[in-house]
Amino acid sequence: MRIAVRIANGIILLAGIALSATVAAQDKTVNDGVFTAAQVTSGQVVYDSQCKTCHNMRFYRDTLKSWNNQPLLYLWESIMGTMPADNPGSLMFEEYTDVIAYILSENGFPVGESKLDPDNGMDAISIIAP
Ligand code: HEC
Repeated sequence: MRIAVRIANGIILLAGIALSATVAAQDKTVNDGVFTAAQVTSGQVVYDSQCKTCHNMRFYRDTLKSWNNQPLLYLWESIMGTMPADNPGSLMFEEYTDVIAYILSENGFPVGESKLDPDNGMDAISIIAP
């Protein structure tokens, strides 16, 4: 009898752990406040000096649409590897990250408490079409 109770408790405990693990691993989207207001502010400076000459915001909006459901990290990697087109890879990692925060913000996605960080969870944030 005691053993049965213990097993039952064990099962309940394991079920609880499995449930919280599922919640923790669940994907976020760009709609979940995944960048800070400070990143948007710094990103605008980078955007105005490095990204505005060749594309307008409409272009970025279309880009986000075409990247629908892709991990945000892939877009970061793509931009870092190819942009600015006249000098790819010339910005600092942080500048590429901030400029993405600014572009997301301009397309209506909300700021939040957590900082966007390519080394921390950006592969689990999905892009959604604005
Ligand atoms: C000298 C011009 C120039 C500058 C400056 C520039 N780009 Fe680009 N960008 C291009 C060209 C050319 C393409 C590819 C052709 C196209 O899609 O229009 C492109 C493509 C892109 C794409 C589409 C990528 C894809 O795979 O969908 C993104 C996003 C992008 N640029 C972001 C940026 C960002 C962010 C900056 C600033 C850090 C920047 N660009 C600065 C010329 C530029």
